[in-house]
Amino acid sequence: MITATQPDNRTLLYAEVRERIEALLEGETDWIAAMATVACELHRTFAYYHWTGFYRAVSDNLLVIGPYQGGHGCLRIPFHRGVCGAAARTRETQLVPDVEAFPGHIACSSSTRSEIVVPILSPEGRLLAVLDVDSDDLDAFNKNDQAHLEDLAVLLGRHFGATQML
Ligand code: SME
Repeated sequence: MITATQPDNRTLLYAEVRERIEALLEGETDWIAAMATVACELHRTFAYYHWTGFYRAVSDNLLVIGPYQGGHGCLRIPFHRGVCGAAARTRETQLVPDVEAFPGHIACSSSTRSEIVVPILSPEGRLLAVLDVDSDDLDAFNKNDQAHLEDLAVLLGRHFGATQML
């Protein structure tokens, strides 16, 4: 476990967690089982991850909570709300160093200070879900986190995008 303020050995931890996730998901076809496993593995690896989970895209404008670790989150997030909504709408990662500076941030937990939300797309470009990680530390996530989480999102989108109907 590392904290956001320790020297950046995240690369190694991301490589290790990625290896564990690939091994655990081998042969798995159930998308919910996969999301639960990914949330668990990520959450336990990084001490600055205080809420780690998925919101599923259930229509063109609505996210509904999926598997997660941490305190309870908002159950439903329309695309026009919050950081998760922005990631779903733009289909681009939202890296937010200070949630108070993000217009429309949904304060499900008053302790959250920063977050990163990564969209998960099928190879054809269908939005499956967003991966949301919130931290109680200000400016917890950097471009290194973004690159590794985006790689993971590509893996999940490829693996589950073709077959899964949410
Ligand atoms: N950070 C999110 C919502 C947080 S959760 O409910 C865990 C947002 O503003 O989109």
